[in-house]
Parts: sequence; structure tokens; C-alpha cells
Amino acid sequence: MTNSQKSFATRAIHHGYDAQSEQGALNPPIYMSSTFTFETAEAGGDMFAGEREGHFYTRISNPTLDHLEKRIANLEGAEAGLATASGMGAITSTLWSFLEAGDEIIIDKTLYGCTFAFMTHGLPRFGVKVTLVDMTEPANLEAAISAQTKIVYFETPANPNNRLVDISAISAIAHRAGAKVVVDNTYATPVLTRPIEHGADIVVHSATKFLSGHGDVVAGLVVGSKEDMTQVRLVGLKDMTGAVMSPLTAMLLLRGIKTLELRMERHCATARKVAEALEAHPAVLHVAYPGLQSFPQADLARRQMSNFGGFLEIVKRAKKRGNRRLFPSLTRGANKGTYTENFTKAFGYYRRTNEVYWHGLDFHALRTTFHHRLSDGTCPGAHRRKLMGHEPLDEGERAYSQKGISIASLFEQVKKIPFDVAWVQSPIRGNPKPAHEGKGLRLVHRSGT
Ligand SMILES: Cc1ncc(COP(=O)(O)O)c(C=O)c1O
Repeated sequence: MTNSQKSFATRAIHHGYDAQSEQGALNPPIYMSSTFTFETAEAGGDMFAGEREGHFYTRISNPTLDHLEKRIANLEGAEAGLATASGMGAITSTLWSFLEAGDEIIIDKTLYGCTFAFMTHGLPRFGVKVTLVDMTEPANLEAAISAQTKIVYFETPANPNNRLVDISAISAIAHRAGAKVVVDNTYATPVLTRPIEHGADIVVHSATKFLSGHGDVVAGLVVGSKEDMTQVRLVGLKDMTGAVMSPLTAMLLLRGIKTLELRMERHCATARKVAEALEAHPAVLHVAYPGLQSFPQADLARRQMSNFGGFLEIVKRAKKRGNRRLFPSLTRGANKGTYTENFTKAFGYYRRTNEVYWHGLDFHALRTTFHHRLSDGTCPGAHRRKLMGHEPLDEGERAYSQKGISIASLFEQVKKIPFDVAWVQSPIRGNPKPAHEGKGLRLVHRSGT
């Protein structure tokens, strides 16, 4: 059976590993070795020069990472892959490899917060022009792109609002202008969308989320052509970020990926059911979930995704006096010196969220919120975003019904979260002082968390 005839699940479990070459071990051994020895000095020299295959230093390559890299490349339909220490490591290693002063990168308006910060505050410090475009409308890219544009970058679905970008349409425009297309596929995962099949050049992942699925690692992955991955490995990763993944993390990720398809099925089913229940709630302005009829890009979702993900954004109706008024309790808290308590509480929830969502052990994750943004005052409501666990929904319902709460009133639980929090100005913006010093907490709009 050829590789392309094997199912996703089979490839997720077996691809790229030959147990017989590892003494029959069912799972790849974890090669916890920083360096490797050579038969001869010449052999080592040749490896250093890139003229011979082999491992000599784990920042450049390692056998355990190699298994993982082959596996994710196969699942994404790419030629080659690369493992990194985090999603941000994957993104920065990739972009540092292809951009230099004087180049332009065009990014979608909605990106995960730290990616957004890197793009808008990091890259310009090194002479890279960064242009923001709403890529949900491909004509906007057509109007903005130029010979200076080296990279077109977006997420689909985007964090935090689940907006989709048409990968084929954007790739066609970018390629006509000679630019590479880099897609963050963290929330779709290769189970739901494989951007390379739609024309993208490079795919990056925060493998910390669904790919790992157990909340026990921070990890990143990149896939693309052999040539591009060699460039990212030897320039961005080796010389610029050094963001190498530990072999132990690679083993945990290989294990997580084995059940990815099964877990995504459950994540999608749960998210859809909860999205439908919350959409019907009077306190909800809208729920952004690509599988809902009301989703503005439902057609694109059906064309580009095989299912609609485990991630949804809920927009609560704003209070009468507007969005900014949703924050007074926190601001007052800051003035009274209780800011730290509020803040810790908020990020306590955030942390717990990380633990529960991606493993999905705890249905009560639904009650947790960790995003609430001002949206430049233009947004009609307050945002809360959710990642759905993969525990059975009826179990969650049972747990709730024991407390007299039905699935239809889950939103009541969401409303009880005792804080409102948005991103605080970060040091990368040139404000190293705690943001709450002086005039109380400063809330700054950022997309994503
Ligand atoms: C879409 C997206 N990309 C990248 C990242 C960064 O990944 P990591 O936290 O693994 O560095 C995140 C983190 O939440 C994310 O949501």
C-alpha cells in the first residue's frame, strides 16, 4: 500500500518510523543526546559542511525530532518538516529565515497576540516593513502587494475571532507577485485543513494546542518544501532563534499526534453543540463558529475545512454604556490596590484554561474565559473565546444538571466569571513598567491572547 493510500490515522501512528531499525521498539527511542560521535574526523567534517547526512548537534537535528518532522510533513502533505521549541519559535525561525531589512511582509489583521506583537513591534525594529491587510477579502491583498513583498502571512481560522482566509485565492495573488505564503494552521490542524494542498508554501503550528493534546508541552512545528525547511533549519533555527525542541517533547508530541484525528472529531462535535446552544442565548450577540449557518464565511468553511474545529468565539452583548464600561471593576481594583489580586485571579483562570482545554478532561473549561478585548471601541460586544474539550458533552451536561443547570443555560456560567481582563501593555511596546502603575490599569487592544 502506498503512503497516499493509507489513512490519516494510520500515518499519524506509523509514518516515518521503522521499529526494526530500533531493535523492535514500538515507539521511537528518545535520543537525549546533545552531540553525536563520528566514525572518522572526515565524516564529522562532511556532516558539518552539509555534504553527508547524519546528526552531529541537536540544535540542528536529532533522530527523535527527525521522526516527528517526517510525520508532521506527511500529515500536512509537505516535503519536509522542522520541530521547534514553541509556536513562537516556529514563526520567528521561519520569518527570520526569509526576511531582511527593506523587505515587506503583509499580514492579516487578525493574528494571535504574540505573533501580532512580533510582526508589528519586533520586525519593524530590524527594518522590515509590515503591512496589515484584511485578508478575508483577497482583493485587499491584490491592492497592497508589491515587488517588495516577500511573505504573506495569516491564520485560518484566526485567533481569536475564527475568521477564515481563502488559502487558494490568497496564494494565487501572492505567487503572482513572487511572495511566499506562510499559514498558521494551529486551530484547524492537518485533520481539518492542509494549507499546502490549497497552494500555501509553509505551514506553522503551535503544537502546544491540539497537536499535542495533553497540555503537557510547549512546542512548534513548521512544514514546507525541502529547500525552505533547510533554510529555516540552518538560518532561522540554528543561527537566529536557537529555538530547538527537546527530544523528550518530540516523543510526547509523537504520542499526542497518534490520537489527533479521534480527538478532533470530538472537539468539533462538542464545539458545534455548544456554539448552537450559546447562539440561541439572549445575552449573546453572536457566536463565531465556522460550522454555524450564521457564520459569514460558511461557504469558504465548507470548501476549505473538513470539519469546523474546537474553537469558538462568543461575543456577549455590550452593556449600555459601551465596551469600555465593561472594565471599571478592574480599573477600580487597581486604584484601590487590589489590582494584583484581580490580575492573578484572571491569569489563574488563564492557566487552568491551558491545562484543561487541550486535553479536554474538564467540561467546566466552558466556564473559563481568557479573552476580553476592547477592539478599538469599534466592537459591539465583549469577546470571550473558548476551546472545547473532547470529553463527552453529555457528561458535562450531567455534571451541570446535578447542579440544576442545563446545557441551554451554560452561558449563565460564563457570565459568572468574576473578572474582565484585556491585554496589558507589554514591554515590547517600549513600556517596561507594570502597566497598572500610575493611572490605574491600562487596557490595550491586542488581537489574540
Ligand atoms: C494561533 C497561534 N499561533 C501561535 C501561537 C504561539 O504558540 P506557543 O504558545 O506554542 O509559542 C499561539 C498560542 O496561543 C496561537 O494561538
